Amino acid sequence: MTSSFNPLIGRSIEEMRADLATQRAAAAPVVETALPGMGLVPRFEHVRTALLDHERLSTKDNFLLAGDSEPTPLLITQSDGARHTMLRDLLRPAFNRAAMKDAGPWIRELVDELLDHLPPGGPADVVGDIGVPLTAAVITRLIGVPGADAGRLVELTQALAEMVPANLFVTPEWAELEAYFRARSEERRLLSDKPQDVLTMLVDASVDGVPMSDREVAFHAFQLFAAGVESTSFTLGWTVHHLLVERERWDALRADRSLLALAREEGLRHCTAIRWVARTAEAEVRLGSACVRPAERLLVSLESANLDEDVFGPDADRFDLHRESARKHVAFGYGVHLCLGAELSRLEIDAALDRLLDRMPGLHLVEPAAWDDLRNPLFSGPRSARVSW
Ligand code: HEM
Repeated sequence: MTSSFNPLIGRSIEEMRADLATQRAAAAPVVETALPGMGLVPRFEHVRTALLDHERLSTKDNFLLAGDSEPTPLLITQSDGARHTMLRDLLRPAFNRAAMKDAGPWIRELVDELLDHLPPGGPADVVGDIGVPLTAAVITRLIGVPGADAGRLVELTQALAEMVPANLFVTPEWAELEAYFRARSEERRLLSDKPQDVLTMLVDASVDGVPMSDREVAFHAFQLFAAGVESTSFTLGWTVHHLLVERERWDALRADRSLLALAREEGLRHCTAIRWVARTAEAEVRLGSACVRPAERLLVSLESANLDEDVFGPDADRFDLHRESARKHVAFGYGVHLCLGAELSRLEIDAALDRLLDRMPGLHLVEPAAWDDLRNPLFSGPRSARVSW
C-alpha cells in the first residue's frame, strides 16, 4: 500500500517541512510514501534507532532512488560490515584529529585569500563565491590534485550528482572525470616518494586483495566532492542568512565569539543539507511499533529528525542562536556511517564565519537567501546568499 505523500519532489521547503511536521505529529515510526516499497522515518528517536541497526538495515542502495543504474563501485556510504570498516580505515587518516589540526591554519588562509579577491564592499554570494570555492579547494588539496582544477572538478561532480540515479557511466561528464583521475593515478603510481594524501591512499589500496581500479579511484574522489562541497556551502550560506536576517544575532556573535560553535551547530541542524539517507532491511526489523519486512526500504529523514519538536522544542523550525540542544542534531548522520568529513566541515564553516565577523563586521543581506526548492531530491539549502559590507 502506498500513500500520496512524496517526501522528495519539488515543492517549496516550507510546504515540505509542514508535511514532515504533520507526519511527526501522527507519531508513526514509519510513514507510507508514494515511492514504491519505501517508507519514511520522520521522528528523531526512530531515526537514531534505525541508524544504529546497521547489521539489519543495510546501506547497499543508499542514495539510489531507482535501480536502473549500471552497478557502481561500492562506495563507503554503500558498504556494510567488513568492507565498510576497511574503507573507513583507509580514508580516516585524511580526516582524523591530527589531519584536522594541520588543516585549521591553511583553511583560514584559504578563506582570507577568497575574501581578498571579493569586490570591495560587495556584493558577493556566500554560497557561490565563498562556500563552493573554499570547500572545493580544501578537497582538491586533501585528495592531492592541483587546486587550479578545482573549478572544473566541481562542475563535473555537481552535474553528475544531479543525474543520480541515472546511469552516470555513459555521460560525457563521467568520461572526463574518469580520464582526469586515471591520468592523476598513473602519475602517482610512478612516484617513488608519494605524498600522504587521499590519492596515494586510494592508488595503494586493495580491496579483498584486488588493487583498486582507476574507475574505483575516480568514484571515491567523486564521492568526496559530492559529499563535501554543496553540503558545507549550503550550510554556511543558510547560517549567514539567519545571522543577518535578525541582525542582533550577528551582533551577539561579534560581541561573544564563544557562541560561534553553537551558531554553526544550529546552522547544521536547521539546514540539514543532506535531507535523508536510505537503508534496506536485510531481516525483519522492529522500529517502535512498526515492523519493517526484509527488502523494504527506508528513507531515514535527517531533515525531519532535526526539526523534531520533542527534542528541539516547540520552536524547532526556528533558527535559535542559543539553542543548546542543537548539538544533538543528526545532520551528519549517526552510528557507524557518521560523516567522516564532519570535523572538516565544522572547521570550514568556523573559519568562514570567524573571518567574515572579523573582516566584514557590517555584513548585511542584499536579498534573502534563495532556497534551492528541492531541485535535487537529496541536497537542500540555499543556492545563493547575497551579501554586501
Ligand atoms: C555540512 C556538510 C556535510 C553534511 C551535512 C554531511 C552529511 C553526511 C551524512 C548524513 C552522512 C551519513 C551517510 C549515511 O549514514 O548513510 C555522511 C557520510 C559521509 N560524509 Fe559527509 N557531510 C558533510 C560534509 C562532508 C565533507 C566535507 C566530507 C569530506 C570531504 C564528507 C565525507 C563523507 C564521507 C566519506 C561519508 C561516508 C561515511 C561512512 O559511510 O562511513 N562529508 N555525511
